[in-house]
Amino acid sequence: MTGPGEIDRVAGLSGRAAALGPGVQASLELLRRNVDRPSAARVYDCILGGVHHFGIDREFADRQLELMPDLRRAMVANRDFLGRAVRHAVSRGVRQFVDIGSGLPTAGNVHEVADRHAPGECRVVYVDNEPVAHAHADLLLAGTADTRRHRAVRADYLDHGALWRAVLDTDVIDPAAPICLLVVAMLHFIAPERQPGNAMEFYRRQLPPGSLLVISHGCDELDDPGIRAVVRNYAQTTAAAHLRSRDEVAAFFGDFELVPPGLVWTPEWGETGPDRWSGPPARSRYLAGVARKPGAAGE
Ligand SMILES: C[S@@+](CC[C@H](N)C(=O)[O-])C[C@H]1O[C@@H](n2cnc3c(N)ncnc32)[C@H](O)[C@@H]1O
Repeated sequence: MTGPGEIDRVAGLSGRAAALGPGVQASLELLRRNVDRPSAARVYDCILGGVHHFGIDREFADRQLELMPDLRRAMVANRDFLGRAVRHAVSRGVRQFVDIGSGLPTAGNVHEVADRHAPGECRVVYVDNEPVAHAHADLLLAGTADTRRHRAVRADYLDHGALWRAVLDTDVIDPAAPICLLVVAMLHFIAPERQPGNAMEFYRRQLPPGSLLVISHGCDELDDPGIRAVVRNYAQTTAAAHLRSRDEVAAFFGDFELVPPGLVWTPEWGETGPDRWSGPPARSRYLAGVARKPGAAGE
């Protein structure tokens, strides 16, 4: 049985919710009404070794790991890609980040990586539609971040106009300066009939020239019974999964220019340590790329 104490503990709040204002309280209320099935965000946290999950999430995660033992290292490789993409953006002079589908912050969050490479300079807005992810992001930021530069909002990727307004309402992001938009390991939770490409086109239009778009996505190229079963099982969670082909993933970048090495498996993107991945890169299952909006920054 998942009681209020367990919910506060998992959200990382333990007695501190009141201090975090009405937004977190509302997220907690929503969370209390949504613990009857596994959540994709909490299952991801569980598999990555985090602490923000319930029994129902752990049972689901264990079953998927039995079906697909590679799942954990595929998720770790995705998380590592996210860190390398942020480092790349900072090295290209980008200082603003919007992370849609940010999930439950485990180690290596965007603001932590960005601040490591450009201390005190980067601004980050985290966005997720999952109450526990939002409640915890608020808490993490209240405890470890600079709230003038780092914020979290709860919004849905598909509700693109409202999401972008909420991001700009934080006053953290300057819409005229290059932005790194991250949509990492999130689009495969959106069914084709919801037409995620339309929302992505809207986001691409909002970004000024010189901005970067970072995407990773579960790909259906390496088909096997394990991954098929896991994808089927995600229908029991808060977010059913939908793998896409390489061409479908590439289409999310529109006319942005992919930076080398292009759209590749996560372990193949950027400089990885020699010990990070062994075996065929396709077993990471996630395709990843970073693309730049054409034109000079400031145009
Ligand atoms: C697997 S996690 C990825 C976390 C992080 N981006 C990473 O790659 O490490 C996917 C996240 O996307 C979020 N998500 C799914 N559908 C969403 C939507 N329509 N709008 C916003 N967030 C969404 C989930 O709540 C979850 O936290």
